[in-house]
This record gives sequence, structure tokens and C-alpha cells, in this order.
Amino acid sequence: MDRLIIDGGRPLAGEVRISGAKNAALPILCSALLTAEPLVLTNVPRLNDVRTMQTLLAQMGVRIDAGTAEKVALDAGRIDWPLAPYELVKTMRASILALGPLVARCGEARVSLPGGCAIGLRPVDQHVKGLVAMGAEIDLEHGYISARARRLKGMRFGFDVVTVTGTENLMMAATLAEGTTVLENAAREPEVVDLARCLATMGANIAGAGTDRITIEGVAALHGATHAIMPDRIETGTFLAAVAAAGGDATLTGTQADTLDAVLARLREAGAEVSVKGDAIRLVRRGPLGAFNLRTAPYPAFPTDMQAQMMALAARASGTTVITETIFENRMMHVQELVRLGAEIDVEGNTAIVRGVPKLNGANVMATDLRASACLVIAGLIAEGETTIDRIYHLDRGYERIEDKLSALGARIRRSRQ
Ligand code: EPU
Repeated sequence: MDRLIIDGGRPLAGEVRISGAKNAALPILCSALLTAEPLVLTNVPRLNDVRTMQTLLAQMGVRIDAGTAEKVALDAGRIDWPLAPYELVKTMRASILALGPLVARCGEARVSLPGGCAIGLRPVDQHVKGLVAMGAEIDLEHGYISARARRLKGMRFGFDVVTVTGTENLMMAATLAEGTTVLENAAREPEVVDLARCLATMGANIAGAGTDRITIEGVAALHGATHAIMPDRIETGTFLAAVAAAGGDATLTGTQADTLDAVLARLREAGAEVSVKGDAIRLVRRGPLGAFNLRTAPYPAFPTDMQAQMMALAARASGTTVITETIFENRMMHVQELVRLGAEIDVEGNTAIVRGVPKLNGANVMATDLRASACLVIAGLIAEGETTIDRIYHLDRGYERIEDKLSALGARIRRSRQ
């Protein structure tokens, strides 16, 4: 199993290009199921989760050409096998995103229930409830969701909780439904907007994506299209947090600052100077780091996917930072690992109280999920001495060549293959 070895304590400087967004690419790859014509995607990040999604779609009969860099062509002219098996769903929960498009296009689907995961229970009841409201017959048996519908029907549906993939699943299903669907209390994440943009290019009729009410007029068929995946706001935020933590002066290109308002505000509060020019964000941090407070919540509030990385920063800031996680019930597993590096953190329920310390010390730590791994990389960059991070397969799911990009900024980081 691969591990990362980081020799910490160096400031970061230089320029890095941000990749396409994982959490936009995954639903958009699934949207290929909605049309018999080819969908061509550009700026697709080269990540393990993207490869898993491609494997899943290929097993269904989708022809995929992922030959050249960051460009993927998908042709779902025929779907032989509208099935997402447990073996793949257990490795990637986002496989649930195939459910809506499959029922809408094929009239049937069998998708394994994802089960819980490291960061929380993560049920999919809202996805199922929405499809039932659209007239699908659903059975839960042998660990699978089996759905059937001759043609889905438009309806008004209010989500009980704000769910990103739930909103995406129902939005995709509604594009081919008969009549109008109104989704209330919808997720407003930029990735939902990117998916809506792609669907619109395919001929879908969608209004309100990016607000909490999305209206979709169903059409009889969608057609082929070309779409560029939006930049990854969480990869951007992770690199910004790394530079703020380590100190230095770095510019991230190919990104979209207006998707990161809450993150940029916290970084500035911590003492970083952040400036935006076109698709580039420059962060400079030379002075001391100060404490800040943050509370995760659905977009446009602070993203849960940046909580762990900001905790690494807080560990070295002067003063006490209070971090509250409201989206997932078990997303504090990085705390114990940070403590191994010398951080002082108490957790009470879903709140972490981080008392900044003057220095962290390198040690062996273990990655537990994707964003916890990114937190440990940042901690390793600011710790004195060597930090070894085990189980970095989590990191490869969501960051493209993180060690190469950090090395380009002057970090001493290398991968050891075992
Ligand atoms: N929830 C329900 N019922 C549902 C769906 C969700 O109770 O039917 C709850 C969840 O348990 C959770 C909350 O609602 O407590 C929000 O979950 P959401 O459904 O929004 O999460 P998701 O769609 O499964 C996506 C991202 C996550 C990101 C969350 C929150 C993708 C592929 N994944 O997950 O990304 O943390 O939204 O923003 O888009 C990551 O990239 O590291 C990651 C975990």
C-alpha cells in the first residue's frame, strides 16, 4: 500500500493548475446514461473515483473512450445492463447517481444500497422518496434498490434534508419525465449548477439550479453534447489552506474564486492575503496565523469537505479555533491523528476546540477518509521533521497527483510504493 513521506517546515511558493471537480465529474459522467448520443467531457480529473465511475458505466454497456488527457467520450447508445453491483457501490457511494438516469432512460434499474461509510450513516432515503413521488415502483431487497417506471411523471418534491447527490439524481431523472418537476429545498452547490449546465446543453429544460427551487420541464429525449467540467473548488481550497498553513506565496490557476467565498473569508481571517485575477487565486501568508471559527453547512456556507484541512491550519494558529461540523456525524477522525503530531484539540459532540500550538512534530499517521487525508498532508507540511501518512488510497480518490503539485510549490513530499 502506498504511503506519503513529507519532510515538513518549508514555505510554499509557485504556481499550480487546478483540475476539474470530482464532485461535478461524477454526476456528469452518469448523465451520459440519459441519451443515446455521445457525450464528450473535457477537464475531467484523472482520479480513482472517476475511473471507478467509468468502470461502472462500461459494465452497463456504455462505450467509453478515455484515451487522451482529461477528455472522455461516452456513448450510451445501448444500455444492456442497468445495474450498479455491490462490488463497485461499496467502493464508491456516488454510484447511487446512476439510479435516476437509469430509471428515466431504461424504465428499470438495480442499484446496490451503499450502506454507511467512515464519515457517517449517509442514507439515500431522499433519492428513493423522490423517485417514488415521480411514480417509480421501488423494492428494497437483498441489499439492492430495484426501481421500475414506464415513464416517470413530473411532480413537486420537497427534500427533508439538503442533499447534493439526491438533488442531482432527481434533477437528472426529471429531465426525461412527463411534465414539470419542481424540487424544493434543493442543494445549491456549484456542482449541481455545473450538472444543470451540462444537461441544458444536452437539450434539458431546467431553471433555478443554484437556488433552492429547481424546475425541470421533461422532454422526450436528450441529445449528445460537449461539456467542460468546472474547476474543483475543494482541491483549490485544500491548496490554499496548505499555503496559508506553511506560509509563502502561491498562485492557483484554472479555478473559480466565486465558488469559494466562505473558504476565502476564513483564510483571510486566519491572516492570509488572498487576491483574485480572472481564473487565478493568489495567496500570500508571511505574518502570524490567527484563530478563526467555522461551522459547516450546505452551500453557500462553509463546505464540510474543507473542514478537516482548515483544522490543520487552526492547529498552528495562535489562539483557540472552534470548528463545528453539521453535515456528517462522524467527520472528526483526523483529530486523533493531528493530536499524534502534537496538536491540542478537544472534541465535544460535533464541535472541535482547537488550541493552536507553536509547533507540530512529524510522526506516523493514518488516513481515514479523503478529506482527513488532505488534512494530514497539510499537517505534515507544517510539522517539524518527517511525517509518514499510511493508507493514502483515500487521497488518490479525490486529488490528482497531489505530491507532484505540492512538489512544484517546493514541498518535500514523496510517495513510497510498498
Ligand atoms: N442524507 C440523508 N438522506 C439522503 C441523503 C442525504 O439523510 O437521502 C443526509 C446525509 O447523511 C448527510 C446530509 O444529508 O448527513 C448531506 O449529505 P449529501 O447527500 O448532501 O451528501 P452526498 O450527496 O452523499 C456530496 C459529496 C460529498 C460532500 C457532500 C456534502 C459527491 C459525490 N459527494 O455527498 O463529498 O461531502 O455532498 O457536501 O458529490 C468528498 O468529496 O470528500 C465528499 C464526501
